[in-house]
Amino acid sequence: MSKKPVRVAVTGAAGQIGYALLFRIASGEMLGKDQPVVLQLLEIPDEKAQKALKGVMMELEDCAFPLLAGMEAHGDPNTAFKDTDYALLVGARPRGPGMERADLLAANAQIFTAQGKALDKVASRGVKVLVVGNPANTNAYIAMKSAPSLPRENFTAMLRLDHNRALSQVAAKTGTKVGDIEKLCVWGNHSPTMYADYRFATVGGKKVKDLINDQVWNADVFLPTVGKRGAAIIEARGLSSAASAANAAIDHMRDWALGTNGKWVTMGVPSNGDYGIPKDVMFGFPVTTANGKYEVVKGLEIDAFSQERINKTLKELQEEQAGVAHLL
Ligand code: NAD
Ligand code: LMR
Repeated sequence: MSKKPVRVAVTGAAGQIGYALLFRIASGEMLGKDQPVVLQLLEIPDEKAQKALKGVMMELEDCAFPLLAGMEAHGDPNTAFKDTDYALLVGARPRGPGMERADLLAANAQIFTAQGKALDKVASRGVKVLVVGNPANTNAYIAMKSAPSLPRENFTAMLRLDHNRALSQVAAKTGTKVGDIEKLCVWGNHSPTMYADYRFATVGGKKVKDLINDQVWNADVFLPTVGKRGAAIIEARGLSSAASAANAAIDHMRDWALGTNGKWVTMGVPSNGDYGIPKDVMFGFPVTTANGKYEVVKGLEIDAFSQERINKTLKELQEEQAGVAHLL
């Protein structure tokens, strides 16, 4: 007997990540090849954006996906998020010419306050929320704080692209396969201050740290390469990453919903105080997932170099939080 459809809301659905994401959700790559989905798509009410969204929906229709049980176009989060089980918040205000980081934070604070409130009011009580739109950690924090009746652990930010980027760099350096690398993680903010950490990673039973054994490469090559990869993609493509970002969103949601079988992945989640990160800071942590829940990997040793990197990314996140405090 086929499963009951679940509702998946996606914002910024006519944007470039949306275009790389929706077809994969509808084909079952996110929630399983036996899970029908209803897509609830949100775009700004602007006529041009709504028309582009209709075009994307025409293409979804033309794929005749057996798992696509329905789709809706919305211009208001209060209808787009109705009863939704999953919400992928991709749409955000991009940084415009002459716009300072504080302006970007304020513009996005408005969007994510409104969307958090709408989720609070109309979404399924178990809704799993992933924020992709930048600044992702702080936007997720704002949405969580704007939705007091939903469990705080339902709100997450995307660090999975950074995790996947780190996996590929480590695989290339060690001449191993990405799929064989375990126990890698990325701490902190989705920004160049993130701390990608392979100290615990193994590949085929060997320690990655021993295979690399080069702290200069770690500090001077690996960390800047992973941290500035988003900017490098923009420089090369003239547009920010889209397919790899959509792929990371699929990975994040699939693992949260279906479980990692003990494998570590990185998720941005509200801190419970682990590793000295103050409660509620939306921070990248190593997690495992099972039965639709994630759990932060506990008890890892933090050496002096790692502590310094963690402090730096935490400081940046706390400054971002302070920058929007008056808007919440
Ligand atoms: P895009 O500009 O191509 O598309 C964004 C879409 O969102 C547009 O169609 C726009 O109309 C829509 N939108 C804007 N405000 C909205 C709102 N309030 N409600 C609904 N829709 C809204 O951008 P993109 O390339 O798809 O990227 C989207 C976001 O994802 C950006 O903020 C980008 O920086 C971020 N991003 C994050 C990561 C990550 O790893 N966390 C990676 C890549 C990109
Ligand atoms: C990325 O990491 O690719 C995105 O967040 C885009 C950016 O601005 O870095």
